[in-house]
Amino acid sequence: MSAELVCFNSACSARYPIDEVIYECRECGGLIAVENRFDQDPKQLTSLWDSRAASRDPLDVSGVWRFREMLPFVTDPRHVVTIREGNTPLFDAPQAAAYGGVDALQLKHQGYNPTGSFKDNGMTAGVTQAKKLGIERVACVSTGNTSASMAAYAAAAGMQAIIFLPHGKIAYGKLAQALEYGALTIQVEANFDQILALVRKLAAEMGIYLLNSMNPFRVEGQKSIVIEMLDQRNWKVPDWIVLPGGNLGNVSALGKGLRELLEIGIIDRLPRVAVVQAAGSAPFYELYQRGFEGDLKAVTSPETLATAIRIGAPVSWPKARFEIQNTNGTVVSATEQEIADAKAVIGRCGIGCEPASAASLAGLKKLTAEGTIAADSDVVCVLTGHLLKDPDYVYHYHTDQLKAPGDVKIVSTFGNAPVVMPNDPAKIAAFLDSPAARG
Ligand code: F0G
Repeated sequence: MSAELVCFNSACSARYPIDEVIYECRECGGLIAVENRFDQDPKQLTSLWDSRAASRDPLDVSGVWRFREMLPFVTDPRHVVTIREGNTPLFDAPQAAAYGGVDALQLKHQGYNPTGSFKDNGMTAGVTQAKKLGIERVACVSTGNTSASMAAYAAAAGMQAIIFLPHGKIAYGKLAQALEYGALTIQVEANFDQILALVRKLAAEMGIYLLNSMNPFRVEGQKSIVIEMLDQRNWKVPDWIVLPGGNLGNVSALGKGLRELLEIGIIDRLPRVAVVQAAGSAPFYELYQRGFEGDLKAVTSPETLATAIRIGAPVSWPKARFEIQNTNGTVVSATEQEIADAKAVIGRCGIGCEPASAASLAGLKKLTAEGTIAADSDVVCVLTGHLLKDPDYVYHYHTDQLKAPGDVKIVSTFGNAPVVMPNDPAKIAAFLDSPAARG
């Protein structure tokens, strides 16, 4: 087992030592990836991981570090910064299946992580590498989840977290977490893409460790989402995995995890992967429609109420393109109305998620309607974040007040507005007996 950094651009493939602080190739400007060499027997590995399920060691209890042989950049377990990430449920969701046009559907809910999103799977690895390097200050720009996650892990590791957020475009639940975890929080009057360019420059000039998803160690941690998902399925590979895409780090990580499991021999085929973008922030979908020819054209003013994926210039697009092509996957876009309705359906399953996560079900519905995904396919949708991230959105949807960018009204298709009643038992009893209350 060993790990090295390598330029993701196959025409370059420059190599760097694993502990070099580098986010883009010095030769060609390409993305950096961790290249792992594995030498384990697949059966021995999976039984080792099984045996850890009964352990109380914090590393074994983590849904990332239980699979630590897949993250060989960590050579000393004392560097690991963990707050019990991963271990997220894989739900059967019959109502969501019917809505999405498939016979059966599973939802892998990353919102059950300690800070409420899939970012914790990656952040535990990114902050672990920072600790290994003796870093004191870490920074990120975020649409919300990354910042909450980084703030928590930095606090746990005793590092200073510096967070940059698009002013006024952040769900309150996330801003609240960053403040509570003690992060130095800077709200900038610019969008995610503009702030990322600024933060990359600042981090390089000031020697602050950058923990956005171009940090290759974040991607290493995020791989564990698909490893855990397949472990929960007894290594039975689904036909399709559907997930939302913003900056495209998550699909890059998912694809890498799948490739490595295949290489070791733990799985014997790849699932197809579908990425769903919000229609107002869909540069990767546009690239896909062009047959993945040429470079991604950034959307300069991305818009969507799914603030988590309000990104016009996704950094990891070359990795994402590779993984979509490698899995014979697809890219689709979903409108604000489609996302809002899919989200309410996931809520009705007793599960719930944040708007960006619901793009996965909205996308599935489209892909079954157009015949790309067959009704009898074995499908897993990844829910990336928790329902409580954005209660304003939820309340406005259910009370028929939700408006998409451009003041476009969202129809409250599955609305469930609260009922205001006087403090009068007779009136409340009469109401409870009425057809309106009996549903
Ligand atoms: N879903 C949620 C809930 C997210 O927070 C994000 C990204 C995505 C999906 C998209 O994942 O960027 O890897 O394609 N949120 C980032 C953030 C950008 O700052 O929290 P991606």
